[in-house]
Amino acid sequence: MKGVILAGGTASRLRPLTWVTNKHLLPVYEKPMIYYPLEAMARAGIKDIMITTSPGHAGHFMNLLRSGRDFGLKISYEIQEEAGGLSEAVALTEQFVGNDKFMVILGDNIFDHNLAKAVQDFEAQEKGAKVFFKKVEEASQYGVGVFDENGTLLKVEEKPEVPKSDLAQTGLYMYDSQAFGFVKSLERSARGELEITDLNNAYIDAGQMSYEIMEGDWIDAGSSHDELLKANIMVAKLVKEGKLPKLWEDAKNVRAVDPELVREMPV
Ligand code: DAU
Repeated sequence: MKGVILAGGTASRLRPLTWVTNKHLLPVYEKPMIYYPLEAMARAGIKDIMITTSPGHAGHFMNLLRSGRDFGLKISYEIQEEAGGLSEAVALTEQFVGNDKFMVILGDNIFDHNLAKAVQDFEAQEKGAKVFFKKVEEASQYGVGVFDENGTLLKVEEKPEVPKSDLAQTGLYMYDSQAFGFVKSLERSARGELEITDLNNAYIDAGQMSYEIMEGDWIDAGSSHDELLKANIMVAKLVKEGKLPKLWEDAKNVRAVDPELVREMPV
């Protein structure tokens, strides 16, 4: 399975921090934010990863991560010219993904849920997609799942004023290559974007969507200064409690993690 990390967007909500660099390179406790989705993929055994980002900051990612070799990963880059939405960014990865299945993580999402089992399950799923929900207090800030009384997912509503559940769609998705066909049929939303929620609804309408409830902690670190602060505190706690693997604690004094450790990491 391939990996895709979406790290574009304008991050105007985090100015002035984001005037000179990309939101996903801002510090979260001891590392740049982008390390966390990269680690989540590496822990799940996904090592061929594409990062999509905005033209002004692409070089910053390359300076930091280079080819990914030092991380035991293979990292490629794609430029998203305008912040036209998450599904637009997904569409840019078509050639990279080919006929494989792929996992998408939003570059500002941090969680400690181990994805290895979900990756195995999704590999075994004949076709379709998988989304991950998490119970939250302020669901109206997110995509929100709508379920029937049997727990069947009926649709996802993007930032509804009156949420129909308290289950937020996190920034973690698994797709097969049908995603690229579905994206071509999407229309831009009121905010002018090709929404990830509409892509997910296309899979739901086709009867090809599965879902899981995410365990552990999850945060969308890039939505405000307060969330960024909370993410720093959350990650510091997880690291100190040993809930983020030791592997990454060893990264403190080196540019990247020890590639031997990544290779030996249990999947
Ligand atoms: O974090 C989970 C939420 O992420 C979901 O619940 C929502 O359904 C989903 O739409 C998304 O909402 P956000 O409002 O948080 O999306 P945001 O615009 O902040 O972008 C999320 C990430 O994607 C962020 O890391 C920047 C990147 N991005 C964003 C846009 C608009 C891109 O790479 N390209 C883009 O065009």
